[in-house]
Amino acid sequence: MDIIYAQEVAIEAAKEAGTLLRRGVEERKVVSRKSSVVDLLTEHDQAAESIILERLKEAFPNHRLITEESALDDKRSDNSPFTWYIDPLDGTNNFTHGYPVFCSSIALFENGQPAIGVVYDPMRDECFLAAAGQGAYLNSANGNKRLRVSQTRELVDSLLATGFPYDRHTSNDDNLAQHGAFLKKALGVRRSGSAALDLAYVAAGRLDGFWEYRLSSWDVAAGVCIIQEAGGTVSGIEGDHWRISPQVSLIASNGRIHSAMISVLAKVTEQFE
Ligand code: IPD
Ligand code: CA
Ligand code: CA
Repeated sequence: MDIIYAQEVAIEAAKEAGTLLRRGVEERKVVSRKSSVVDLLTEHDQAAESIILERLKEAFPNHRLITEESALDDKRSDNSPFTWYIDPLDGTNNFTHGYPVFCSSIALFENGQPAIGVVYDPMRDECFLAAAGQGAYLNSANGNKRLRVSQTRELVDSLLATGFPYDRHTSNDDNLAQHGAFLKKALGVRRSGSAALDLAYVAAGRLDGFWEYRLSSWDVAAGVCIIQEAGGTVSGIEGDHWRISPQVSLIASNGRIHSAMISVLAKVTEQFE
């Protein structure tokens, strides 16, 4: 498989989907709800997904495709070592409000390992990308820039990000205590509303660390690939080995503050036991 060709197809698909989203952001949205009252769906999520699926199916008819909106786990290709993870619109709640923080996220994994990651922010025309062993880059109007995670060593100097699960109105497993604990220790904690962009920002050194519970594979697959290629560290919440699965909780950082982040989360967990 030509990884550079695959990356080109993914970039083109993400940019085409992103352009549709950028044009749609000012429109009145038709909104429905999915798993909870705050888990929204627009026709743009679906239209962006159709664009990406069309491009990928055409170029790679035998690869598996795992996507958010059609929840398509393509059985045709059960034997393929290649799986694409697609979130056509990460940050739907922002998008419905015209809040310009959202992206399209596309990743390719080979035998469970990251091969390609593409996160495209159409409002800033920023394309974060990586291919295994080839480094991570930011492609924008300013050209192509190599990405490296930050050098920050202390939590007190760290800008972190997180998110909160869609069942937070009804579940106590809501990340609020963890959020509070980090607020007391870090320089700041942001909640952008797009996990894929948060991860891309860790890769770019704009954030020093990120954690979140119970995300889906398509939220994080591309971002994890980009962070690893930018020299960062990704693990489970307890520092355990991270692997792609339908539901994922993770810590992603510049590596230097990773053990401090694990300790903060472990202390909060202890309080609940
Ligand atoms: C959501 C965003 C958000 C995160 C949620 C995700 P969506 O994705 O990434 O930041 O906190 O857990 O589900 O629904 O906008 O694609
Ligand atoms: Ca998402
Ligand atoms: Ca989505």
